[in-house]
Amino acid sequence: MGTASDIKLIDENGLRIDGRSPTELRPLKIETDVLDRADGSAYIEWGGNKILVAVYGPREAYPKHTQDIDKAVIKARYNMSAFSVDERKRPGPDRRSVEISKVISEALQAAVMVEQFPRAQIDVFIEVLQADAGTRIAGLTASSVALASAGIPMRDLVVGCAAGKVDGKIVLDLGKEEDNFGQADLPMGILARSGKIVLMQMDGDLTEDEFNQATELIMDATRRIYEIQREALAGKYRAMAIERGGE
Ligand code: CDP
Repeated sequence: MGTASDIKLIDENGLRIDGRSPTELRPLKIETDVLDRADGSAYIEWGGNKILVAVYGPREAYPKHTQDIDKAVIKARYNMSAFSVDERKRPGPDRRSVEISKVISEALQAAVMVEQFPRAQIDVFIEVLQADAGTRIAGLTASSVALASAGIPMRDLVVGCAAGKVDGKIVLDLGKEEDNFGQADLPMGILARSGKIVLMQMDGDLTEDEFNQATELIMDATRRIYEIQREALAGKYRAMAIERGGE
């Protein structure tokens, strides 16, 4: 969260810097099966974010001491490419990417039927090609689709979405300037059908009332994002049916 108080993020008509209303998402699209070698994959464009996700597994967890005799372990690895941000990012893991990998792994663990695959690991590689605020929730949303496209049994899809506070107003899905100069950012991961929260982090400050407003915006947007995820997966099955028909 930035401190520059002279930057106006909401205009006199209540519209945001990119012309959105407070409850509007940035443009969002998801594609599946964009990589041939992976067991499942997805590509997401959400606002200016461009993120690829590759899923491998379930396969025997390695090294062996990482195995869980009761369930599969989900290993998400979030990586920002050097060219994904304005100033070249130093390649390799840093504290931020280790943290994001951990919270995404935990969120996905709640959605996958991990108990069906004891001693296995499922790798989820998240490559941020272009970053524009909200990469963890975009990465999470795409990861969930990539897992489903790999045919991995899931109890639910995870939807990532954020809300925050800019110019004293609660708004959905912060863009880059809003993230930089706003007062709070609240990213969440939600199981689409049950509504269970599986990721929640917060940067900045919100009152209890503002927090409730932000959560409400997120919950409402979850339904819209879930539809886009399902569409992406339905597209996959339609394509498979066409392939089979052509055999
Ligand atoms: O991306 P997300 O909002 O989940 O995480 P963040 O740590 O709040 O980062 C917000 C944004 O800052 C990212 O989406 C990038 O656009 C930008 N960023 C950057 O420019 N350089 C970095 N090394 C890290 C983040």
